[in-house]
Amino acid sequence: MSFDLVLFGGTGDLAWRKLLPALFQAFRHGSLPEGGRIIGVARDDLSDAAYRDLIASRFDAVIQEKRPTAEEFERFAALLQYQRMDLSKPEDYAQLAERLRERNADTVVMYLATAPGLFTTACEQLGAAGLATPKTRVVLEKPLGHDLESNRAINAAVRRVFREEQIFRIDHYLGKPAVQNLLALRFGNVLFEPLWRREMVASIEITMAEKLGVEKRGAFYDGTGALRDMVQNHALQLLCAIAMEPPINATADAIRDEKLKVLHSLVPWTPATLARDVVRGQYTAGSTGGERVPGYAEETGVPADSRTETFVALRTQIANWRWAGVPFFIRTGKRLAAHEAHIAINFRATPHPIYRTPIGAANRLVIHLQPRDGVALHLFAAGQDKRSARAAEAQSLAQVHLDLDFEQRFGTERVGAYERLLLDVIAGRLNLFVRADEQEAAWRWVEPIMQSWQESNEGPRPYAAGTWGPAAASAMVAREGHSWIEES
Ligand code: BG6
Repeated sequence: MSFDLVLFGGTGDLAWRKLLPALFQAFRHGSLPEGGRIIGVARDDLSDAAYRDLIASRFDAVIQEKRPTAEEFERFAALLQYQRMDLSKPEDYAQLAERLRERNADTVVMYLATAPGLFTTACEQLGAAGLATPKTRVVLEKPLGHDLESNRAINAAVRRVFREEQIFRIDHYLGKPAVQNLLALRFGNVLFEPLWRREMVASIEITMAEKLGVEKRGAFYDGTGALRDMVQNHALQLLCAIAMEPPINATADAIRDEKLKVLHSLVPWTPATLARDVVRGQYTAGSTGGERVPGYAEETGVPADSRTETFVALRTQIANWRWAGVPFFIRTGKRLAAHEAHIAINFRATPHPIYRTPIGAANRLVIHLQPRDGVALHLFAAGQDKRSARAAEAQSLAQVHLDLDFEQRFGTERVGAYERLLLDVIAGRLNLFVRADEQEAAWRWVEPIMQSWQESNEGPRPYAAGTWGPAAASAMVAREGHSWIEES
C-alpha cells in the first residue's frame, strides 16, 4: 500500500521533535509500509536536500539512544521531500495537488501540525483544491479550540470537507503503551472486572506530573493553562479508559461510544463543588534537581501578573451504577517534584480486619504510565524475615508489591506513542483517536471551571517549583481520608 504523508508545519517543533523521529523509528522497526513518501510543508524556501539536512541536524538533538547511522538516515531521508506553501494561498494547494496527483498513492494523510488557527482555512483549501478525496485522512493536533464554542466551530468546518471517519484527532496519551496495557488489563483479563466497581474501590487517582516548566512555550501556554493543556484532553481520556464499560468489540466506534458515556456521566459542577473540589496553582521560583529555576511569571513570554494555572487538582464523580460515590482525583502540573504519571485504584479496606495493617493502608493497583510503564499490585503479606517474625507475633502485616515492568518484559525498543498513532493513521485505524462528540463533551464539562476562575477575584495558589503543588490539593483529598500516592 503506497502512501503520501503531507506534514503541514514540517519545520515546526512538533515535526522535528516528535513526528519525524517517530516515522524514522517506524521505518527502522520495519513497520512503516513500503511505498511511502513524506512531504514536509512550511513557508520557508527550502529544497528537498536542505530539508533533509535540517531534519538530520535536529535528529541529533532528539534521538538520544541508538542514533541513526549516516547510512540509515540516508535511506529514511529518501522518503522525505519538501514543499513551500503559504496556507492562505489557493495556488499553493493547487501545486500540492499536482504533486500528489502525479504519484497517485493509495492513501494520502494530511497531518496538520500547525497553529490551530489554520485548521479551518487549511481544510477548506484542501477541499477546494480537490484534495479531500475518499482516500484522504486528516490529522488534527491539539488544541482543537479553547472552549466548547471554538471546538465546535473547528469540528464543523473540518466536517464540511471530510467525513468523521477521515478525521484523526490526536491525543498522544492514547498512543502510550501504558494506556493500551490498561485497556488490555481490563478487557483481556477476567480477574479485575469484579473488582472494578464502587463496592470494591474507595477512590481513583490520576496524576500527570512534570518536572519541566513551560520551557519556550510561555507565550502559547499563557493563553492555555493546565486545565486546557492537560485535563480537558489527556486526563479525561485516561479517566475514560479506567471508567468505561467493556465495549461490545474492539472497533473504534464501540470504544468511543463507551468513552462518551463516561464523559456524559461526569457529575456536573455546582458553585459549591467548584469552590471545594478544584485547586489551581502557579509555580513560583524554586529548585529542581539542585538547580534554581524561575517562577512561571518570570518565564519568557509570560506577563508578570499572569493568572494562568500551571497546576490543577480536582475531585469528581461519575454518576452511574458502577461508580456512584467513588471520588476520582485528577492532578497535573508543571515544575512538580517528579516527572511521573500514574493511575492508582485504591481499594477498600478489609471489612473486618483481624491483622494489624499500617493505618489507612489498603490494596492498591498502580498503573505506571511514565517514565517507565508497568503495573504494581500492592498487597499485604505475613513476611518472612526476623523483624516480621516479631511482627507476626503482633499480627502485623508487611506491605509487598507484585510488580510488572513492561520495559523489562517487552524490551526497551517498544513502539512510542507517536509511532503507534502515525502507523494507525496510515492504516486507517481510528481506535486511538478522539471523536468530535467526545471532545465536545469534555469541553462542556471543563467550561464551568474556566468560567468560575474568570469570575473569581482570587488567582491561582502559588507553589514553589520542585514541590508537589499547593497544600490545598493535599487537603482536598485528605478530607475523605485519601492521600496522593507519594504522600501515602
Ligand atoms: C502536551 C502538552 O499535550 O503534553 C505539554 O501540551 C505537556 O504541555 C505534554 O508537556 C506532556 O506529554 P508527555 O507525553 O511528556 O507526558
